[in-house]
Amino acid sequence: MRVADLIRKKRDGGPLGRDEIAALIGGVSDGSVPDYQTSALLMAIVLRGMTADETAWLTEAMIASGTRLDLSDLSQPAADKHSTGGVGDKTSLVLAPLVAACGVLVPMMSGRGLGHTGGTLDKLDAIPGFRTDLTIPELRSALARVGCAIVSQSDELVPADRRLYALRDVTATVESVPLIAASIMSKKIAEGVGALVLDVKCGAGAFMKTTAEARMLAATLVAIGERHGVRTEAVITAMDAPLGRAIGNALEVAEAVDVLKGEGPADVEALTVALATRMLVLAGSATGEADASARVREALASGAGLERFQAMVETQGGDPRIVDEPGRLPSAPVREAVPAPRAGFVARLDAEGLGLAAMALGAGRDRVDGRVDPGVGLRVLAGVGSRVEAGTPVVEIHGRDSRQIDTVRPLVERAIDVRAVPPDPQPLILDRVTVPAVFQP
Ligand code: URA
Repeated sequence: MRVADLIRKKRDGGPLGRDEIAALIGGVSDGSVPDYQTSALLMAIVLRGMTADETAWLTEAMIASGTRLDLSDLSQPAADKHSTGGVGDKTSLVLAPLVAACGVLVPMMSGRGLGHTGGTLDKLDAIPGFRTDLTIPELRSALARVGCAIVSQSDELVPADRRLYALRDVTATVESVPLIAASIMSKKIAEGVGALVLDVKCGAGAFMKTTAEARMLAATLVAIGERHGVRTEAVITAMDAPLGRAIGNALEVAEAVDVLKGEGPADVEALTVALATRMLVLAGSATGEADASARVREALASGAGLERFQAMVETQGGDPRIVDEPGRLPSAPVREAVPAPRAGFVARLDAEGLGLAAMALGAGRDRVDGRVDPGVGLRVLAGVGSRVEAGTPVVEIHGRDSRQIDTVRPLVERAIDVRAVPPDPQPLILDRVTVPAVFQP
């Protein structure tokens, strides 16, 4: 079976067989399929799509590229959440410790930035010393000690996703239901969780721009989870404007800590509590929605979530003092505010435009071996709906130097829309997708 023949088959719209997908993914993981062929294959999949069977086989082959964890000896339910990719979305950093504080293990395998969206691993890398490359024994011991850990794919855990993910980020091959579904579900199934909540982002700043696309991705994700015995549910959430106020790695860590202290933006807190609540319910560790929500809120209000966060940072080698001294996080030396062009109301802050602006500052990569600058980013000073005068600062750019700021300023200006009338308030949670009828017990 020649790799070029399989790429041609997919390029011409033919379905790949289970053995063909297994052989390709085996080659991606052991390096025998070079990056140029993998990139061509990814583009063929983006353009031609995959059937439900192909998507399931791709997921299966990616899980089989590493180990599937068995956490049953830890004697606690295990659950996780994963987002399909957003701008300013730091919920994982808040949610993992909060859920752990409620007695549910969270062995979270996350990703780096993808396209214009941020990645949890890049955010954690902003914490001096923090290691996401834990071995399986280290992950188990972190879970036993703290109840949560956030790690990357590795040689042991879904190595195929590590390779595919890095290539997709820089070859414009992210926006594909089968590729997103297999990437997310291979990681989550390999973690060994019994329950999973998926945050499927929808809107201008998401990979799925319409609710129809988001529902299709959500249904695909839920079906794969159930097929592998994981209780899975998807929540479709709005991603037109950035979540919270910070975009950029260290800025987002600081904002996540603020949320854990009860001092963060309301939208980040509301979404985190909603997702954490569903995790407790699906994990069977609450009597129902009201009980789960009350326990999550108590973990937030009592500081138990913040304590777990600090313990997680310490256990994974990071500097726990960043919690009380955010000045220890990296920062960018030059700051400049982009003002409102006229008086009125902030009607739109285009999440994709701001995500691309953050990338242009160095918060993401444009090459597989590209370096991320942890200190740069954007801070929203006047969110959607805010009343502004001409000249009121709307977004603050945090950059390395003034030349960089000059390049990025027009991108930020284009992402800001000020109108005479206030925008209609939009709900954050748009829909929920549960087990498709065919999988109902
Ligand atoms: N998150 C992932 O892990 N993979 C994707 O493809 C998109 C979001």
